[in-house]
Amino acid sequence: MLFRESSLRKKIILGYIAGLVIILIAASFILLNLVFIEERIKFFSVITRFVDTVLEIRRYEKNYFLYKQPDDLERLQEYIDNALVILKRNYSNFDIIRPSSLDIKQGDGRSTSDIAIEMITRYKILIQTAKEERDVDDALQEEVRKTGHELTELAEDLSNSERDIIKKTIVSTKRSLILSLVVFFTGTVFIGIMVSTLVIRPLKELEQSMNSIASGRFEMLHIDSHDQEIISLKKAFERMVKEIFSQRDIIRSEKLKSLGTMLAGIAHEINNPLSNISTSAEILEEEINGLDSEFKKELIQQIIRETDRARDIVRSVLDYTRDREFRKEEVSLSELISRTMRFVKSDIPSHVTFHLDIPEGLVVRVDRQKLQHALLNIIKNAIDAMSDINREGILAIKGYELGDTLVSIEISDTGTGISDDNLHKIFDPFFTTKDVGKGTGLGLFISHNIIRQHRGEISVKSTPGRGTTFTITLPKE
Ligand SMILES: Nc1ncnc2c1ncn2[C@@H]1O[C@H](COP(=O)(O)OP(=O)(O)OP(=O)(O)O)[C@@H](O)[C@H]1O
Ligand SMILES: [Mg+2]
Repeated sequence: MLFRESSLRKKIILGYIAGLVIILIAASFILLNLVFIEERIKFFSVITRFVDTVLEIRRYEKNYFLYKQPDDLERLQEYIDNALVILKRNYSNFDIIRPSSLDIKQGDGRSTSDIAIEMITRYKILIQTAKEERDVDDALQEEVRKTGHELTELAEDLSNSERDIIKKTIVSTKRSLILSLVVFFTGTVFIGIMVSTLVIRPLKELEQSMNSIASGRFEMLHIDSHDQEIISLKKAFERMVKEIFSQRDIIRSEKLKSLGTMLAGIAHEINNPLSNISTSAEILEEEINGLDSEFKKELIQQIIRETDRARDIVRSVLDYTRDREFRKEEVSLSELISRTMRFVKSDIPSHVTFHLDIPEGLVVRVDRQKLQHALLNIIKNAIDAMSDINREGILAIKGYELGDTLVSIEISDTGTGISDDNLHKIFDPFFTTKDVGKGTGLGLFISHNIIRQHRGEISVKSTPGRGTTFTITLPKE
């Protein structure tokens, strides 16, 4: 059935059909009224003719009784016949009119046409009698006058009643027109309110929920609707929200995973300065009095240097883990890459050599932590691509200026390379060729986002079996 399931489309169609039916009914009613008025106006000219004929009858009646001219009698009879013809031809139309005077005078239930025909026939007989009698007596004359008078009254009553009918029909048509306009206006307002409650309210709630989600609060939609379209919208929205939140969880876990990699690197990295500090401190402790002051100073400086190094490493970790706003600062590119390399140095296999080629003074304005994260993901991929290869490998990072405003960073490896089929997918979230549990496929997706955040570009060139080069181009400022 058409309306078994609740749906906005059906409700709107129903609304339109209801509106159309109302308009059709109103229009038909008004049209019928207009046709009726047209008919009655036509008929009014018949009544006028009837009234004129009756007046002629009365005129010849008067003349005949005054001058007794046979001509007048003939004309009188002609007009009587005319009046009868008019009545008989318009029998049903005359019946529609019912002057109240008829009910009072002739309350015997006969129709208007019958009463009128009977009255004229009676009058005709009286005139016929008057014609046959040479000397018309007063009683007959009186009878003729009385019936003639009744006839005039009837004709006038009919004319007035017809005028009333036309007037009433015009008033009722006017009323129907006003009523139709009111119904139409109310209907439009009703449909407007219906559409706003059915469509706009859920959309508003959707907007509110989206705003909540944009500000980090998760809210399910509270839309109370049984309409299919709104229910599907709600389901799609909830699916989307769940997807976003599950992605957020994955991104978080990916971050934790890379944090794990970093921590392993840190443990390794921090061990060196700590053992240097420890050695220097031990020498100082044991030989505090025997050493010359120059050597002591050098040992202390070494302790300070190594402490700085350890502190730097710790600071990088703190930077990386803190979730904070995007904030640009001037960074020396070579220093940034060196710091980043500390996290992965321990992962570089022995058959891989690392080359760094960045001019000392090359400075860019970037978000240090974020760019480091982006570089780390790319460098880790390069190392992964060379881990299982037996031949010698090279991981090379090059930095150079590109014109006055741009800086490029090239990270190349001599690893497995990427097949043409995969090349256009590697920046997609969750695309990975690594074993389950080894790669989430989010590394490059995140790197790409970070580079875009810096209004930079990232591109890749790769030859399967020979290696891959990622090129990042960033605005200096
Ligand atoms: N230097 C590279 N050499 C060869 N393949 C690469 C290289 N960099 C990326 N890839 C390919 O791109 C895919 C996606 O890389 P991405 O860093 O996004 O995810 P992943 O390394 O698989 O997982 P993770 O989320 O742990 O980084 C990798 O699985 C790999 O197939
Ligand atoms: Mg990766």
